[in-house]
Amino acid sequence: MNQQLKFSEVVKAAKNQSKVEGLTHRYYTYPAGFSPIFVSSAIENLTKKNDLVLDPFMGGGTTIVEAIKHGRFAVGIDLNPIATFVSDVKTTRLLKSHYQLIESWRNQNIDNLHCKLKNDKFSKEALSLINYVGLGRTEIANLKKIIKCSSLFLKRLKKVENKRCNNFLRLALLRAMHTSLHNRRPIDNYDFFKSRIKNNINRMLKEMSLFDLYLTGKHKHKIYNRCSSKVNQINHLKNNKPKLIITSPPYPGINIPYSRWQIHGRRNTLLPYLVLGLENPDSSSLFSFQSPRSQKQNAYFDTLKSIFSSIAKIASKKTIILQLVAFNLKNYSLDKYLETMSVCGFEEIKMQSRRVSRNVPNRTWAARYTKKEIPSKREYLIAHKLR
Ligand SMILES: C[S@@+](CC[C@H](N)C(=O)[O-])C[C@H]1O[C@@H](n2cnc3c(N)ncnc32)[C@H](O)[C@@H]1O
Repeated sequence: MNQQLKFSEVVKAAKNQSKVEGLTHRYYTYPAGFSPIFVSSAIENLTKKNDLVLDPFMGGGTTIVEAIKHGRFAVGIDLNPIATFVSDVKTTRLLKSHYQLIESWRNQNIDNLHCKLKNDKFSKEALSLINYVGLGRTEIANLKKIIKCSSLFLKRLKKVENKRCNNFLRLALLRAMHTSLHNRRPIDNYDFFKSRIKNNINRMLKEMSLFDLYLTGKHKHKIYNRCSSKVNQINHLKNNKPKLIITSPPYPGINIPYSRWQIHGRRNTLLPYLVLGLENPDSSSLFSFQSPRSQKQNAYFDTLKSIFSSIAKIASKKTIILQLVAFNLKNYSLDKYLETMSVCGFEEIKMQSRRVSRNVPNRTWAARYTKKEIPSKREYLIAHKLR
């Protein structure tokens, strides 16, 4: 197949509106996640077995999971430790003994979870992170019970010394809390929350048992928690050139809460960091390149430039860079984006005669200063190679 035909397959896949499912993709819903169908098609059409695939803004690890499935080597980088935690659990093989340990822990510890802990540290800290003023009484009661129940789960989890099993179970809890609290109206009641934890463990075990066989091969993947402006300092990438870089960076002028959950859609909380035992990020815009409040996007494009200049150093003439990006202002942000890529040494590859875009299903995001010219749920697919 010639390259134009391969591109048209990838474009077709990018427009697919199916729900995210399969393998370990649904372990956690990471904000602005890729469609696995798109990533799978790009890897299949634009790389061969044993090629290296890189995602410098890895998020929830869609690229890494798909690269492993296709027998490619993969490197994923993300500044947000939630992203690296989630991606790591999604791509860590479980041995038979791990399945047994997780199942027996589940049998002994979920049905009897309660919310009667007194003055426990986690609940106090968690409730101090949540603004629940103004929520109804039942909502507050449910919220507090969920927090107390999670606290007991985490207390019991301390006894699970095996890291793989501990991380797996912690992610099952994180996912249940995310589903029951983030943008949930009304907040789930406590019994339902408990059943969510159990269902998560069961479903995740089943999904991993199907993915396991792909994790036994020689195709090692590597995950790094760092800023991608130092991508050229990663030894593995100095010696191996990626054939495909497939990624979705933060979007200029569009506010996506990579680090926060939103209680009732607007009360931001850093709760996921507490659940994972991670330090809070220094600022709310750390993972967006710059504050979305600022109308000027200088810091955004300076960061983009520094990252793609670094990427240019580890790319080869054969590397294809595919990006899905949303913009709030077409004439300014999109043009400036393409200009920045050019300054970093890349030239655009036209995938089709018209610019390719897609409407993202079930997604809206907060875009300040959008001048109605681009609906903010529209993403553009752009391709580049070294000039
Ligand atoms: C749109 S999300 C990627 C979602 C991903 N495609 C998926 O399928 O889950 C963008 C990611 O870029 C990460 N990020 C932001 N600034 C970064 C930086 N300087 N270096 C590396 N990653 C960064 C954010 O933490 C976020 O996870």
